[in-house]
Formats: sequence, C-alpha cells, structure tokens
Amino acid sequence: MSASSGAVSANGHTPVLYQNVLNALNLHAGGHYIDGTVGAGGHAAGILECSSPDGRLLGLDRDPNALELAGFRLEPFGDRVSLRHASYTAMRDEAFAQGWDRVDAILLDLGLSSMQLEDAKRGFSFRFDGPLDMRFDPEVDFMADELVNHMPQNELADVIKRYGEEPRARAIAEAIVQARPLRTTLELADVIASKATGKRKGIHPATRTFQALRIAVNDELNALKAGLETAVGLLSPGGRLVVISFHSLEDRIVKRFFRRESQDCICPPEQLICCCEHAATLRILTKRPIRPESDEISLNPRARSARLRVAERLSMA
Ligand SMILES: C[S@@+](CC[C@H](N)C(=O)[O-])C[C@H]1O[C@@H](n2cnc3c(N)ncnc32)[C@H](O)[C@@H]1O
Repeated sequence: MSASSGAVSANGHTPVLYQNVLNALNLHAGGHYIDGTVGAGGHAAGILECSSPDGRLLGLDRDPNALELAGFRLEPFGDRVSLRHASYTAMRDEAFAQGWDRVDAILLDLGLSSMQLEDAKRGFSFRFDGPLDMRFDPEVDFMADELVNHMPQNELADVIKRYGEEPRARAIAEAIVQARPLRTTLELADVIASKATGKRKGIHPATRTFQALRIAVNDELNALKAGLETAVGLLSPGGRLVVISFHSLEDRIVKRFFRRESQDCICPPEQLICCCEHAATLRILTKRPIRPESDEISLNPRARSARLRVAERLSMA
C-alpha cells in the first residue's frame, strides 16, 4: 500500500513517518478512521487515499486555523471526511455523533505543527517575536502570559522542571519573576538565555522552558492520558492505535499505557494473589518505537525526535 499526495509538505507541514503511519493503521476500503490531531491534513489525506473508495475519516483538532487548512487540503474527498473543532479527548462523543460506536484505527500525531510554530503571533517560538500565547485553541482563555507574569515563582519552577525537564528550572523561574512584566516571546527567551550555561548540543537555551510552558498551557499530558483511555474504548477488535510523540514525557506515557493495557494483571509485583480484575485490551506491535531514517530527518528536521508506537485492540471478552 502506498499513498503519494500527503507525503509532501501540505500547507507548510510535512507529515512525519508518513508511510510507517499509513502501514501501521492497517487501512482498508470502507473503514472508519479517526485522526485526533488532523493538523494540515497530511496524514489524513493518506488515510483517505488508502481507504478508497469509501473509507471515512473523522478529523479533530483544537486549532480552528488548522481545521481550515485541513478542510482545503481534504476537499477532494468530499463527504468521506468530517472535520470537527474538538480535542481528541472528546473523540468518543464526536464518533457517536457520526453514528460510529466503533472505529478501525485512531491516529494521534502529538504536539504542534510547523504552521503553528512558525506563526509569530501564536507565541510558540523563541525565534520570532510574538505575544506570550501558546494556546492550541485560541477560544480558551488561559495563555502563557498567565504563567510567565502571574504564577508564584516556586510553581513556575515546578512547571519548567516537570514539563521541560530543565535542570536550571529554579534559576530560570527566579530570573523570569525578577524581569516581570514580560510581554513577548523574545523578551522571555532573552531572560532564559541569561541563565543558560551555554548551548547544550546545539539546542537553544529556551527550548525546554518553551516546551514546558506550552505543555502546561494546553494541559497536554493529561489530554494524552485521557485520549489513550478513550481511544482503546472506541477501537474494534483488531483496530489500531497509532501514536507519534516528540519528547520523552509523551513517549513515556504512551509506552506505560501500552504496557499496562497489554497485561491481564496490573497488581503490584509483591502482591501474590491478583485482585485487580484487569484484562488486557491491547497487543503491542512495536517493541521499540519506530524512528525516522536519516534521509527523512535531513528533509524534515522536525522529524528528528519523532517516535511512533503502535498497538492493536484485542477481542473483547
Ligand atoms: C503535529 S500536528 C498534526 C499534523 C498532521 N498529522 C498533519 O499531517 O498535518 C499536531 C496537531 O494536533 C493539534 N492538537 C494538539 N493537542 C490536541 C488535542 N488535545 N486535541 C486535538 N488536537 C490537538 C494541534 O493543534 C496540531 O494541529
């Protein structure tokens, strides 16, 4: 199976691990599929091509701008596509609204798109000057400004440490609090850089702090945990759950979730008699995550940290 049109840059965003994703989804004509992070619709176009002539796709995204791009990109597929402004945490309700109580595969391609990163006014990037925003969904009130300018220093340090795995979190939080009020991404990046001990492996000193703020603003890790649970409940037996993560915090959540859901007993090891009544729901298909080859990374540097994990829904008891 192969699909061509999504593999190239769609509206400025190149879908990562494109062919691996399409293979992992095990697509077929007539299938019902959810792309929980439809973005610019690159993977989605491939899903629709590979499930021709009558496969259907429900595409969700928290960002209405992304949905507009996806709508344009996926227009040739007509009524085989439904696009909805919703978090993937709401995929069960969205699927039911389509009249689907089970689906054949679900894709989550986590994080943010190139369009979001490169749009200065969204405030995701330390390379362009923009407002302290970082929301996926511009209709939500809470933005990065709230954390940067109003959060108590200790809590801010905890956010930077937990979601950015930044060793200098305390010093950075202190510098941010002393520099308040901060108005723009470049002001913030300069304050962070003043506390950096030098570039680590060519990574900009603000990378980890910006990641931390974005994760906190969008409550990304809780969304991921909830989304994985919901996805398993929606898959048909044999259905595929395909997740691409871009940093170790996300990947750890996916790995642990897959491991737990592939076991019949999740009692602590010291407990001799099982009392959890847990039954395995998934079979793991990727013992180790699939990583992009070097030629993909040289064409699309954003792909370098991508890790793809795949699991299959077991038959229900
Ligand atoms: C990496 S991009 C997806 C790109 C897409 N696979 C493509 O080929 O164009 C991730 C997208 O997920 C969206 N997103 C992030 N968290 C979300 C959530 N909880 N629910 C729905 N969409 C989300 C972002 O707005 C972004 O558009």
